[in-house]
Amino acid sequence: MQFDIKKLVRPNIEQLKPYSSAKDEFTGEAHILLDANENSLGSPLTKWYNRYPDPYQKEIKEKLSFIIKVPASQIFLGNGSDEIIDLLFRTFCEPGKDNIIICPPTYPMYEVNANINNIGIKTANLLPDFQLNVAHIEQLVDEHTKIIWICSPNNPTGNSLDRIDIETVLNHFNGLVVVDEAYINFSKHKSFVQSLEDYPNLVVLQTLSKAWGLAGLRVGMCFASDAVVGYLNKVKAPYNISMVSQELVLKALEEVGQVNDMIQHLVEMRIALAEVIASMPYVEKVYPSDTNFLLVKIPRASEMYRFLRSKGIIVRDRSSLPHCEDTIRVTVGNEQENTELVDAMAEWIEKTF
Ligand SMILES: Cc1ncc(COP(=O)(O)O)c(C=O)c1O
Repeated sequence: MQFDIKKLVRPNIEQLKPYSSAKDEFTGEAHILLDANENSLGSPLTKWYNRYPDPYQKEIKEKLSFIIKVPASQIFLGNGSDEIIDLLFRTFCEPGKDNIIICPPTYPMYEVNANINNIGIKTANLLPDFQLNVAHIEQLVDEHTKIIWICSPNNPTGNSLDRIDIETVLNHFNGLVVVDEAYINFSKHKSFVQSLEDYPNLVVLQTLSKAWGLAGLRVGMCFASDAVVGYLNKVKAPYNISMVSQELVLKALEEVGQVNDMIQHLVEMRIALAEVIASMPYVEKVYPSDTNFLLVKIPRASEMYRFLRSKGIIVRDRSSLPHCEDTIRVTVGNEQENTELVDAMAEWIEKTF
């Protein structure tokens, strides 16, 4: 079986003539810009925000290319990885006809976007140890299966998925395999980004929202073949990353050292918090985490969730997900927040059991 991206892309997208802005058609130096119906007098702000931003975020991609060691032509940026997830559906999955495979418990947006786009959903739950059920995935694949969604390290379980399993899926499936690495910077495991050359069907998602601390700017990254990036560029809105976000991201990308310090600090706090919570009475398990959050199993977890909420501490109750009965997911906070969380949990345990 040969991977053929042209068989995967929706025929109307293959044929699509994308919107072409003046910025696409002219790349030289111009001193009079009367092409885009911008406000020629300026803006109420003292910056050049009267102009549309670079549609392809070239400066950012060059910097990312240097940091992540992927050619700029293989990088696509979205308004958060959430936009990229939606674009992958709209580019490759035919509504009412195609299907995708998800591996719950996992990040819910794959399912939400499949539903928004009227794409069939096939489910291969993770095994009880939160690893891929590769045999089940392979059984589910049919001629209309376009994308297999894999999240590693996985949200909400926190663990990394076995690399060999992911490689098996990549080797045996002729559609796209999306590996969502939103939490990769907190993990001791290697990213799949350096495997793009080996797998033309691999799409890796990362984000600036987690380790980079820039959730408010909404910038997600996709690393894939030139062909996949080309199709996403055809489908995206022309100016999908605002100028403000682009400017601030460029500044942040200068601060790799500071970001690495934050990652190290968060990982240390995660390890310490996991130890403290695991030692609390009635806590059944704190699952191993390669992320900046912990999944905690405790009887009556939903009650504890509500108690924490009443104290103004918001965590996620994950109890309704497969293999996640009686669990809450907590993000690692700062020192003060972690202390308050632990104190509130101790108070609830004391009064409940
Ligand atoms: C696994 C996973 N992927 C993607 C996202 C979304 O990231 P972004 O902020 O880039 O849209 C999240 C956010 O929680 C996530 O957990």
